Amino acid sequence: MPTPHINAEDGAFAKTVLMPGDPKRAKWIAENFLVDAKLVTDVRGILGYTGYTKSGKRVSVMASGMGLPSIGIYSYELFTHYGVESIIRIGTCGAYQPGINLFDVIIGQAASTDSDWAQQFNLRGGTFSAVADFDMILAAYSAIVRRGLEVHVGNILSSDIFYDFDPDFWKSWAKLGILGVEMESYALYTMAARLKKRALCILTVTDLFLDSSRKATPEERETGVATMVDIALEIADK
Ligand code: HPA
Repeated sequence: MPTPHINAEDGAFAKTVLMPGDPKRAKWIAENFLVDAKLVTDVRGILGYTGYTKSGKRVSVMASGMGLPSIGIYSYELFTHYGVESIIRIGTCGAYQPGINLFDVIIGQAASTDSDWAQQFNLRGGTFSAVADFDMILAAYSAIVRRGLEVHVGNILSSDIFYDFDPDFWKSWAKLGILGVEMESYALYTMAARLKKRALCILTVTDLFLDSSRKATPEERETGVATMVDIALEIADK
């Protein structure tokens, strides 16, 4: 049965869904990395595909859109209506710490947030520490190290804000050791926790808060995403 935001048939998704933010990226992944990929949903232009890896694993890829509410909706519907067991977000982030370079990979071991999104879970003003699935962290870490890539594992910030009117706000988070900022992981990890599912976020660094003169070009972003897709496909469950 279709959900309000996904018009796929029952069983249309594999157990593991790769989730980039951008629908065009989902299409690009389906066309370039999957065999026999079929479009299974396109509501609001949020494209989702299911196909096979070259080694024969059935996997899906679907966009999340931007921000905690958007990935919260799509992960909820995939987990509760389509039997999805794990979601691997493939994203980009801005790095907060020295020693992190453009195109390094960050594994979000945990996610913090400046959003009130998790208050829906009746926390009486408390905070929930959102963490990735440990086995998925281990699998991704080994796959990245095996490729000889620079990887950082730690706490990331899922922010509601992209255009911050306070240019120094990020420094409060950087002082707490936050590796970098993006806008979705906290909601994905929390939704997986609430529904007893699994999630991981692998991010490529496309902005440096300590050196704003250096930005990834679109081609460089694509190379970074390709590396993460490769890793995600390797660690995806059947
Ligand atoms: N902020 C939020 N999300 C991001 C950024 C950023 O600077 N860079 C890449 N994703």
